[in-house]
Amino acid sequence: MSVFDCVIRGGTVVTAADTVKADVGIRGGKIISVAEKLDDGKNIIDASGLYVMPGGIDSHVHLAQPAFGGPAMADGFESGTRSAIAGGNTTLIPFALQPRGASLRQSVIDYHKEADGQSFCDYGFHLIITDPNPTVLGQELPALVADGYTSFKVFMTYDDLVLNDRQLLEVFDCARGCGALVMVHCEGYDAIKFMTDKLERAGKIAPYYHATSRPSSVEREATHRAISHAELTDVPIMVVHVSGREPMEQIRWAQQRGLKIYGETCPQYIALTADDLKGLNMDETGGKYVCSPPPRDEANWEAIWEGIRSGVFQTFSSDHCPFYFEGPQGKKNPKARTSFRWVPNGIPGVETRLQILYSKGVVEGRISINEFVALTSTNHAKLYGLYPQKGSIAPGFDADIVLWDPNRKETICQELMHHGADYTPYEGITVTGWPSLTMLRGKVVAEDGRITGEKTDGAFLKRSLSPYAVPQGKPAWDR
Ligand code: URP
Ligand code: ZN
Ligand code: ZN
Repeated sequence: MSVFDCVIRGGTVVTAADTVKADVGIRGGKIISVAEKLDDGKNIIDASGLYVMPGGIDSHVHLAQPAFGGPAMADGFESGTRSAIAGGNTTLIPFALQPRGASLRQSVIDYHKEADGQSFCDYGFHLIITDPNPTVLGQELPALVADGYTSFKVFMTYDDLVLNDRQLLEVFDCARGCGALVMVHCEGYDAIKFMTDKLERAGKIAPYYHATSRPSSVEREATHRAISHAELTDVPIMVVHVSGREPMEQIRWAQQRGLKIYGETCPQYIALTADDLKGLNMDETGGKYVCSPPPRDEANWEAIWEGIRSGVFQTFSSDHCPFYFEGPQGKKNPKARTSFRWVPNGIPGVETRLQILYSKGVVEGRISINEFVALTSTNHAKLYGLYPQKGSIAPGFDADIVLWDPNRKETICQELMHHGADYTPYEGITVTGWPSLTMLRGKVVAEDGRITGEKTDGAFLKRSLSPYAVPQGKPAWDR
């Protein structure tokens, strides 16, 4: 009788540290052996010519988020996680958002109802805090962190989400006390409002002006402010979706001063530019690329690569935030046509994250394949309290594996996608490297674009405290 339920045979195993020709033996959903030559298992998967890598972990995705009267998202858990596994991912961490005035705990309960039995892959929840009142900071947040919701996001912009400086400081202080990792959306609310009003008054309402309304300086200023607040309160923070040189340099500056400031970037900042928002002659097709911060330009792509290569960024996430393009809920709905202000912010990308980074990074010689694994899987697991269950290929880890075809060339197009959105912003981009098989805890859930898993396969992940969220010294008021 075989000891293995499955053996992945003849592939090249790639982790954040090593690249070795080896077989992988799986039993009970776990990796139990990685060795040069293993005995047969009940099932054998031939991985000759393929890389055997840890399944992608995408720690920044938005699914089924409340719409506040605006357009509804194009993906709930079912379609969003289906898209994720087709793209080689096995774990997502979307956000349970607290609408203002609502209980944070109730928001989490409600979000579980969206996810239960609807997920093709494993998932944890970050929180989004929009109303840091005494009950949230004194009771709900610490209790939720203890329950395995060990990270949360706060916003420095958006009418329904923005926190002022005092609130940011209170929230950071609370995170320090309960050990949560804080993710910060760094764009300055007042500057964006000022720019938006000015542009609208000048009749500049096309989607392109979304990018004009929130230039790099707005992101740089907010990044610096968040870093300063983090220093004052002695709290590690993750600056999410960094778009280019100016904010990247702020993070690097902080890291060089010894502060625990982490950075995340995304495919849109190495593959799209603000010119994409011009659409066809400044028309509404530019709305397909409206996200925040906006895509910049090719010089900023290079700055992002500089940040990736030098370790300023630890994670490469999709910031999958899908909206339809057509229809009453779409990016060109009648209200959105009156001003870029009303175009919903966000683009789909969970299914194309790995291919874009692999192609532009590994194939074009900018990063090693081990760095690719770190940026797309291992570092997410380590930062967000999922290691050593997720994020590597070694005995004891969940058998979350992607078999990667390094030679498969594809042109990204909507027809290949499994998401709910009716377009992909990466349409027409040719990539080399594509997932050929995705395995979740030992079960093959996607193979060559076919979904073989079920929407009940995914399990909720209660996460540990992040070892990266441990404070460094004392807050400024206590030194
Ligand atoms: O445009 C974006 N990224 N929308 C999603 C929400 C966010 O800020 O991450
Ligand atoms: Zn954000
Ligand atoms: Zn986001």
